[in-house]
Amino acid sequence: MQINPVNNTNNCSFKTWHREVFAKSYNLKSHRLLYRNDTNFFRDRDLWVKLLNFFIEKFQNIPKVNVYHFGCSDGSEPLSLIMYFLSNTTKAIQEKFLPVKALDIDKEAINRINTKFPYKITDIEINRINDYTENNFNKFFKNIPSTDNYKADDILYSNIDAKLGNIKTDYKNIEKNNSIVFARNFWPYIENPKDRQIILYNLANHLESNSYLVIGEYDIRGSQWTIEDQLRKAGFQKTSIRNLYEKI
Ligand SMILES: C[S@@+](CC[C@H](N)C(=O)[O-])C[C@H]1O[C@@H](n2cnc3c(N)ncnc32)[C@H](O)[C@@H]1O
Repeated sequence: MQINPVNNTNNCSFKTWHREVFAKSYNLKSHRLLYRNDTNFFRDRDLWVKLLNFFIEKFQNIPKVNVYHFGCSDGSEPLSLIMYFLSNTTKAIQEKFLPVKALDIDKEAINRINTKFPYKITDIEINRINDYTENNFNKFFKNIPSTDNYKADDILYSNIDAKLGNIKTDYKNIEKNNSIVFARNFWPYIENPKDRQIILYNLANHLESNSYLVIGEYDIRGSQWTIEDQLRKAGFQKTSIRNLYEKI
């Protein structure tokens, strides 16, 4: 099968950026879904406060923490994390956790971040961002008049370093200690269970002490296979937070 991405942007969705990318087969009759770019701000909304407070406490005696965001899509998730830190924590904590290294296999996604492409933000998301940022939505986003598109402020872009990257191979560039790896809501697209297991083994073997992996609700619920078993086999241990695993 030729991996020749084909876009489908026509499907209607409540997501701020809904896009599907298919592999075009040689006979052109069936297009296999490679991945979706769907994302939004503070996705899995109950996660963030407990997760980030957990990290702040865990790393309280560590001077620098390396934060990676694989499968970052258009940046909505890493920017959520950045807004949370900028609104709720001291300068010292911000400097410890930021900037976020954001990676995605999709050129268009990375291009959106690096060209400061405006975000289409729904009212629901505006409320959610306000909830998590001490009502700072207007500090972080400026409306483009007569549209529901918003330009993100440079303070957000100065805290993100976005590049093309594939978790299959680029796990090798992760700092081994004191790292947090977000890899959320894309594991079901790696269809072959053996391939997923190999990536998880490689990631776990690469990481050393004080390192964590954060997965998404879609990863836990979104398919027939159980990522929990695969994570355990690879050497990640469940924590008290549902989406968070620790390298053991
Ligand atoms: C459904 S989006 C999830 C975005 C964001 N993490 C979230 O949870 O809202 C999946 C993203 O993962 C990316 N992706 C898929 N496979 C990947 C891989 N092997 N390495 C890095 N990114 C990948 C896709 O390009 C897409 O942007």
